[in-house]
Amino acid sequence: MLYDKVQESVRFIQERITQKPEIGIILGSGLGGLVDIMEDKEIVPYGEIPGFPKSNVAGHAAKLVIGKIGGHVVAAMQGRFHFYEGFTMREVTYPLYVLRQLGVKDLIVTNACGAVNRDFEPGDLILLSDYINFTGQNPLIGENDERFGVRFPDMSDAYAKELRVFAGEIAQKLGFQHKEGVYALFLGPTYETAAEIRACAVYGADLVGMSTVPETIVANYLGMRVLGIGCVTNMATGIATVKHTHEQVVKVANEASEKLCGWVAEVLRQWK
Ligand code: HPA
Repeated sequence: MLYDKVQESVRFIQERITQKPEIGIILGSGLGGLVDIMEDKEIVPYGEIPGFPKSNVAGHAAKLVIGKIGGHVVAAMQGRFHFYEGFTMREVTYPLYVLRQLGVKDLIVTNACGAVNRDFEPGDLILLSDYINFTGQNPLIGENDERFGVRFPDMSDAYAKELRVFAGEIAQKLGFQHKEGVYALFLGPTYETAAEIRACAVYGADLVGMSTVPETIVANYLGMRVLGIGCVTNMATGIATVKHTHEQVVKVANEASEKLCGWVAEVLRQWK
């Protein structure tokens, strides 16, 4: 049963760490640099945690790093699980159940994504304002355990407005213009076709990617507030003038990583 399995993962992690995390952070492709600014780090490789799936996608480490940023104890997931790797949606979102039971109340989720909105450009950091799930999949399909959350979770504030406003103010103080956008989830692992991008633009998408939405759904279900930040690594298919490669995605994300780290660190310093 999911609940018992989660308790077992939680017990294992609690035996390995001395700090109690309040905020969870999921680090997207090429954005793992945030762990470099963490203090008092305690590291638990996913492979050792009972119940955890295992990941080996390039650009993703596979460990849970607990430590301090801006005076808050955070649990950073360096490497996440994707549906396209063959994991089930339950597996993709399993760490969220564990983080919640460890005491994590809020989530910062980051990703590398393509821009559908022509006002965006590679290197931009975009606050996610909402999502569109184009996959026909949902991580909450199956029996519901009321100890975790309700059967029909509300998603009207999937990316908490208060956190978005707050993070936006901090971006302004740091002197960069932040933008907001709607993130559309595609399953991958193929990048989208030009026709798919035109279609999702009509639907109101500003960004496209292959992650983040499952975790956002489960975090909301578990009662967490979510702050989502997308790092634009490329213009989406049909807008871009070159073909997409994962290497280029990771390269651009790495280049934007320092800016993202500075922003997230300041957000955490003033977190309320
Ligand atoms: N599409 C989907 N996922 C992505 C993209 C993209 O253009 N860029 C980075 N991740």
